[in-house]
Amino acid sequence: MLVKKIKLKNFRNIESAGLEFDNKMNVISGENAQGKTNILESIWLFCGAKSFRNAKDSAFVRFGEKSGKSAIDFISGGIEHTAEMIFTDKRTAVLDGKTLKNPGELAGTLSAVVFSPADLSLVQEGPDKRRRFLDVSIGQLYPNYIDILRSYGRAVSQRNSVIKEYKYDPSVAIMLDVFEEEIAANGKKITEYRKKFLDEINKYLPSIYSGFSSGRESITSLYVAKTEPTVLLDELKKGRKEDSFLGVTSAGPHRDDIELLINGISARNYGSQGQKRSVAIALKLSTLNVINAVSGEYPICLLDDVMSELDEARQKYILNHISDWQTFITCCDPSSVERLSGGRVFTVKGGGIV
Ligand SMILES: Nc1ncnc2c1ncn2[C@@H]1O[C@H](COP(=O)(O)OP(=O)(O)OP(=O)(O)O)[C@@H](O)[C@H]1O
Ligand SMILES: [Mg+2]
Repeated sequence: MLVKKIKLKNFRNIESAGLEFDNKMNVISGENAQGKTNILESIWLFCGAKSFRNAKDSAFVRFGEKSGKSAIDFISGGIEHTAEMIFTDKRTAVLDGKTLKNPGELAGTLSAVVFSPADLSLVQEGPDKRRRFLDVSIGQLYPNYIDILRSYGRAVSQRNSVIKEYKYDPSVAIMLDVFEEEIAANGKKITEYRKKFLDEINKYLPSIYSGFSSGRESITSLYVAKTEPTVLLDELKKGRKEDSFLGVTSAGPHRDDIELLINGISARNYGSQGQKRSVAIALKLSTLNVINAVSGEYPICLLDDVMSELDEARQKYILNHISDWQTFITCCDPSSVERLSGGRVFTVKGGGIV
């Protein structure tokens, strides 16, 4: 995937701007609150996504204006495309001259992997964030996985509502049998998909992370299944009594996690800020490689505010050792830009490119 250029009009704080991008590295530099993230967001929206800041569509229109507009030229699957987006209180998208029913239909035509500061939660928060990372990435590659997840989630909710009755009324066991069969069957599939995806990630993660840390640190990522699929059905049955008091399902892949270790030690519990950030970025960059391996094309890479908390060597690695795909990266510190060899730098001030 390659974004050639983007034009913005009354998009967020940008009155009017046109940017022609480098095929590899694009640095969007400037002080705080000038419009750097807004530019990344304008590209991201063409991937059919919602704002990565959870904004309403009306928030894209520049204050005091009635509408905003963005237009992009990009190459996907070897074909040149143009797309436009018109923002009012809602968004309308046009792809190659055709108005789409829903901007979400753009998904897949232009695809991106994005890192935003909120993605640090992937390393430093609870297991649900890491499961979500797996589920979203796998769902992007294998839409069938989303159906499996949905059926699994439904069976867990059904079991949770019936299990509460179990302590008063053992006859509900007939229903539990059905739900548990379904949890075990889909749970097995989910675990297999996740393990396979993490195996793919692990083909890239160690070398990317080692590059980040100039070879000083090694990373290990392991899938931790709370209950192995082979014994899941048994565990569900054994756990009925205890689960009935709590109204939960305590076994299954909705309780699994990824363990991330730096030099054998938990990144979540012991990692420094820079290490945690490096792990989260390295996971995203590995995902990009996996998507390329499966689909035959690299997505574009949007990195918002990755430079902060990284030392000079780590910044240099991001700026100069990522050459297989097109990257868009925001940064505040002008000295970061001095570490760039090649690529293009855009300096943003007050919503304009200077
Ligand atoms: N609809 C809008 N109309 C006008 N201005 C807006 C709109 N939405 C956001 N802004 C403003 O755009 C400014 C720049 O936002 P942006 O998030 O792009 O900054 P940034 O350059 O990434 O800064 P930082 O380095 O702090 O991340 C903010 O001050 C924000 O108030
Ligand atoms: Mg920003």
